[in-house]
Amino acid sequence: MKEYGGYFELENFRGNEYHRQAIRLNSARNSIVYLMRAKKINKLYIPYFLCNSVKNILIKHNLIFEEYHIDKNLRPILENKLKNNEYVLIVNYFDQLQDIEIQEFKGAYNNVIVDNTQSFFRKELQGIDSFNSCRKFFGVPDGSYLYTDSVLTENLERDKSYERMIHLLGRFEVDASSFHSFFSKNDAKISDIPLKKMSKLTKNLLSGIDYDFAFEQRMNNFNLFFHAFEKENVLNLTPGKFCYPLYIENGEYIRKKLIEKKIYVPILWPNIQYSEGASELEKSFAKDIVNLPCDHRYDENDVKFIIEEVKRCIN
Ligand SMILES: Cc1ncc(COP(=O)(O)O)c(C=O)c1O
Repeated sequence: MKEYGGYFELENFRGNEYHRQAIRLNSARNSIVYLMRAKKINKLYIPYFLCNSVKNILIKHNLIFEEYHIDKNLRPILENKLKNNEYVLIVNYFDQLQDIEIQEFKGAYNNVIVDNTQSFFRKELQGIDSFNSCRKFFGVPDGSYLYTDSVLTENLERDKSYERMIHLLGRFEVDASSFHSFFSKNDAKISDIPLKKMSKLTKNLLSGIDYDFAFEQRMNNFNLFFHAFEKENVLNLTPGKFCYPLYIENGEYIRKKLIEKKIYVPILWPNIQYSEGASELEKSFAKDIVNLPCDHRYDENDVKFIIEEVKRCIN
């Protein structure tokens, strides 16, 4: 029965989501589960250079996978020919894969799924399955947009996110360090949520974002880093909008120094250093890539400040 009157709930934001044509799910890893079920995938090839969350969800659902290596340009080294119901997950690291490259992978392997977790603004490429993770780009608790022609006939429940909001609200009004433990708890909760539709709360929050502003700001910030570290960065980068990955010999030391200065640069991903199969190159990516924040919370002055701090650590 509909309720009338009384106290107010959170406002309904009246803007538009960025991905209006996509399937709305509750997490990126569950977009993979959706595809595995809808396409009846027997085996998924995933990169060694990846967070544990993907591997863990595959194990949890008894889904078969095999790991592959990437090269110094963060591109997959795919040696096996794919059978009919085998697929390869290609991660668009740092938003670096160009559409033409993705189409070439599709041409060569056909059974390709693109993980755009680090590339929120990429929309559908005709006939190619892809998904993103909303919380990796914006202050929302969870959510993923999935592009696919495959349909899962199961009836999915809608998720609820109100208990996964504390770290966002706390960081908004207080600071990051006081609420980091809530962020970690939220991360742990997300690893347990079953495949569901995106919550009404996440969808609403995603309808209140100025995407043009976020796009421009991220692009400008990335470019400032790009020009500042053109000589130092071992990676050959094109413009991206996730973070600015500075791959440098003493990256691990620089990261520690920056964190002391409250410039939080996450490791992508801590599990790689303990991975038995990962190559020395993949381990060194995890250890020495300093992921500098270029997101829309920051402007030119912030980025210049971070650049100076990094240069101080380098010299
Ligand atoms: C490349 C990549 N894919 C997928 C995921 C899973 O994202 P979610 O937390 O939305 O399930 C992550 C999370 O860290 C990731 O880094």
